[in-house]
Amino acid sequence: MSLRQNILVTGGAGFIGSNFVRYMLKQHGEIAIINLDALTYVGNLENLDDVNSDPRYTFVKGDIRNREDLETLFSSKPIDAVVHMAAESHVDRSIVGAGIFVETNVLGTQILLEVAKTHGVKRFVHVSTDEVYGSLGETGKFTESAPLHPNSPYAASKAGSDLLALAYQHTFDFPVVVTRCSNNYGPYQFPEKLIPLMIMNALQDKQLPVYGDGLNVRDWLYVEDHCAAIDAVLQQGVPGEVYNIGGNNEWKNIDIVKLILKKLDKPDKLVSFVKDRPGHDRRYAIDASKMNETLGWKPAHTFEKGISDTIDWYLNNQSWCHRVMSGEYQEYYKMMYHER
Ligand code: NAD
Ligand code: TYD
Repeated sequence: MSLRQNILVTGGAGFIGSNFVRYMLKQHGEIAIINLDALTYVGNLENLDDVNSDPRYTFVKGDIRNREDLETLFSSKPIDAVVHMAAESHVDRSIVGAGIFVETNVLGTQILLEVAKTHGVKRFVHVSTDEVYGSLGETGKFTESAPLHPNSPYAASKAGSDLLALAYQHTFDFPVVVTRCSNNYGPYQFPEKLIPLMIMNALQDKQLPVYGDGLNVRDWLYVEDHCAAIDAVLQQGVPGEVYNIGGNNEWKNIDIVKLILKKLDKPDKLVSFVKDRPGHDRRYAIDASKMNETLGWKPAHTFEKGISDTIDWYLNNQSWCHRVMSGEYQEYYKMMYHER
């Protein structure tokens, strides 16, 4: 990309978004990042405290569902590219209440696409998930041409947004590129997702709630590797194309949980098998060879190092965890886990 791009990141106060903003400012000298975030229960400006005073970074509070918020922003400065990450992102919450997932992920994405198109944005990276492909059996991996078969309301809402994004490319020649990544882990992940939840519960000697038989498989990628992949797609991705991103790093949930216990020197007896998630996808695995062959991307972090760094981060940032886990999250946790 040419010098001094204005890049709008939506959802930049969340887990991947905050890591991405930090990554981009570190990688590129001549860049301006505008972070648009509605600051929902998971969005947290504290995640970006260290870049807040960087003159290349601006935060704007706004909601992708609100066209006026977007019009005001896009009219105030030229936006060259959009990296769209704002979403409701937690499968369990989509099972409790699907409406907000449709509003944010489907409708919000369409409004953002429309405004971005009207203002002549030159590149729109739509950040999606492997969950749109549904569940795999014991073998095989998802390629970009696998049929979409989303199973949870979250996955269905993301599939809807992917299709809208691709339709804007096909119909209006709007330069959309879609990424579909496997499960991320790393610093600043909200402790309602598997890895940080298990770390935090283990640190407090609380039960570790493993759904079903614990044999569901996920393909884990360190968040900074995902950020590098999105950067590669932003710079070199071909409009209308989909790029799978994955760690080639499959783990059964129970093995991850036991690894966390071992690293924290906590006993296996903290594991508690609880009622399964309804419609729980059995296995995800991504074939990321297109990213590797066409954009030269591959993960730079081993799982061994990534998980150790992640555990250390949570150990060293327990006050952050306790702050984000207070308030609304307490009610959510009680509702989710005390009933199981
Ligand atoms: P997250 O839940 O941590 O963060 C989402 C962010 O979006 C929050 O800061 C939130 O305040 C913001 N947001 C929500 N609704 C908004 C709205 N209406 N307007 C503006 N901002 C809003 O999510 P994450 O885990 O960082 O995921 C980011 C993106 O990456 C999502 O699109 C998700 O589908 C995708 N993704 C996540 C993973 C993963 O493992 N976490 C894997 C693949 C893809
Ligand atoms: P999660 O982090 O919610 O990501 P996703 O559902 O998007 O893959 O869950 C990862 C896996 O961990 C998934 O198979 C569900 C399982 N899981 C548990 O066993 N217990 C829990 O408390 C949570 C949150 C997840």
